[in-house]
Amino acid sequence: MKSASPKKRSAATPPALAPAPIPVPKPAVRRFYGPGLPNVDAARLGGKLIVVEGADGSGRSSQIARLRDWLELQGHATVQVGLKRSTLVREELEKAQQGNILSPTTLSLFYATDFADQLENIIIPALKAGCMVLADRYIYTLMARDLVRGIEESWLKNLYGIALIPDAVFYLNVSPAQLVQRNFAKNRALDYWESGMDLRLSPDMFDCFLRYQKEMAKVFKRLQASYGFNIVDGDRSLDSITEDLREKIAAVLDRP
Ligand SMILES: Nc1ncnc2c1ncn2[C@@H]1O[C@H](COP(=O)(O)OP(=O)(O)OP(=O)(O)O)[C@@H](O)[C@H]1O
Ligand SMILES: [Mg+2]
Repeated sequence: MKSASPKKRSAATPPALAPAPIPVPKPAVRRFYGPGLPNVDAARLGGKLIVVEGADGSGRSSQIARLRDWLELQGHATVQVGLKRSTLVREELEKAQQGNILSPTTLSLFYATDFADQLENIIIPALKAGCMVLADRYIYTLMARDLVRGIEESWLKNLYGIALIPDAVFYLNVSPAQLVQRNFAKNRALDYWESGMDLRLSPDMFDCFLRYQKEMAKVFKRLQASYGFNIVDGDRSLDSITEDLREKIAAVLDRP
């Protein structure tokens, strides 16, 4: 027997007699990507960990500042983290980068230390206290930078097994042309590392920036698939991106 089309059935059945089943949200059990940090029970952490990822100059910090104001207006205490913000190693990392004296592996471990220090001393205590943690980049940028420099993915996955799985990762997807414009608007020049000049993809910094960002975008695309990023069209106005992010974060806040 042919069954009635769903459209016909819903028109014939009064909504009061057949209420739509209410989805029961599954409790979010927080986990680490790997073994995590010793003596930290991820499942007992509250708060939310929201990550904004994206290429250099994609507009992450602008959006995070707006999200912080919005969240705090609603009464959420927020804490911000990002790359090279650990008080333990920030200055040394900066100095080491000025001299370009580190191999890709030691530079990677330096950044991993910066991350681990913030995880242990800022992110975890803030989540324990029920705060919203806004991360301006996370392990994904670190992994992508290392992957384009030839470091093995399995080694990186092992290294970042200490990381907490965030509640959401938003990736600002910005076209290369917009990226150049935004980087120039901000710094009036391109940066040596953000142009990937250490990789010697081209002697010209502008050309090297484009090639490097293209390589990074390729790697990010691969990571997107395995880590489930939420892709946000970053080629729009600041306001429209903020609106989109607010809507998506409101849904994250509604989850238990
Ligand atoms: N949606 C947008 N439209 C136009 N300009 C933007 C937009 N978002 C950010 N900008 C501008 O682009 C520049 C870079 O933005 P921002 O500093 O927020 O990016 P970022 O991703 O944090 O950069 P960095 O990688 O250097 O930390 C700034 O001058 C900012 O005003
Ligand atoms: Mg920034």
